[in-house]
Amino acid sequence: MSSAELSVFIRAIGVHTPERKLTNAELSTMVDTSDEWIKTRSGIAERRIAAPGENPSDMGAKAAAKTLERAGLTPADVDLLIVATMTSDVPFPSTACLLQAKLGLRRDIPCFDVSAACSGFVYALQVAKDMMRSGAYRRTLVVGTEKLSSVVDWSDRTTCVLFGDGAGAVLLETTPEKNVGLLGNLLGADGNNAELLHCAGGGSAAPATADSLRDGKHFLRMNGKEVFRHAVRVMAESCERVLAKCDVKSEQVAWFIPHQANSRILEAVASQLNVGMDRFPSNLERYGNTSAASIPLALEEAWKDGKIKHGDLVLIVAFGAGLTWGATLLRWHEPPH
Ligand code: COA
Repeated sequence: MSSAELSVFIRAIGVHTPERKLTNAELSTMVDTSDEWIKTRSGIAERRIAAPGENPSDMGAKAAAKTLERAGLTPADVDLLIVATMTSDVPFPSTACLLQAKLGLRRDIPCFDVSAACSGFVYALQVAKDMMRSGAYRRTLVVGTEKLSSVVDWSDRTTCVLFGDGAGAVLLETTPEKNVGLLGNLLGADGNNAELLHCAGGGSAAPATADSLRDGKHFLRMNGKEVFRHAVRVMAESCERVLAKCDVKSEQVAWFIPHQANSRILEAVASQLNVGMDRFPSNLERYGNTSAASIPLALEEAWKDGKIKHGDLVLIVAFGAGLTWGATLLRWHEPPH
């Protein structure tokens, strides 16, 4: 059998979230906001905040360790590591390299980061799939891990209420079985709208200076209304296009797992697709927007709750800074052990 015929499926999934919970009530003592405003505009009640020194590579390593444990595998079994993050521990080296060392993965495997903000996990899945189908890699860890609390301006009520920290990981594996695992995908980007959600300072274009720090250039800034509009349109379109590409009707999809940004965005996407919210599981209320970690966090929860079952079609869809977007249709596969 030629390697081009291999399928790639999620063999195991695991997450890690920091212990510290930041509730809306506590946030209301920090900025001029209220539990009611945050809940009605976003659906968020609380988010997790990483401890000082608890970095994306640490959270990602814990999520990945849990994933390997669930798969009954060890770090030595992993052939490739891809990390999706927009809050890397340091500008370089990659968070993937730091995570590789912390998890004790083999020293000879490729490890790299994917930068696509909140769409990062969906991008990373596709990169992994294409590298694996070549036959060169049998098992890949894809990790989404974020410490957004480090780039949020805690005096800006229009953004600080929305984001949180956490990590999720999947172990991808190849199989000769047909029509299982990652079936179809669509990725896109529009850099013309980069300024709608961005961090202006700290990179090589504007290295950190005393002035840039004073002006808050190292913080995330967002045009919430415009981002909202784009998110709804692009996520609904991405779902429709990937379903058409795979010749699957939305009625056949058991679960939609969208990037957890805002409950009103999820409701608008579901309504455009004519799909009930009962097929859009969400954990936004407890974690807020965790960017590249949000899809694995939601996917793991839906699997752990017994919602996602062997053979189910699952459509994951994301949207984020860049602007970027992506959708992946997969058939959940649990091989007999
Ligand atoms: N608490 C209380 N009031 C707030 C507030 C807060 N945390 N944040 C903003 N407001 C105020 C605004 O200042 C504004 O007041 P004004 O009318 O006196 O000017 C009012 O609430 C309405 O603001 P608006 O921006 O119109 O609210 P909105 O309904 O658009 O909701 C967001 C704001 C940010 C929740 C919404 O635009 C959103 O979710 N956008 C998408 C963000 C996102 O998901 N980004 C990540 C994508 S990956």
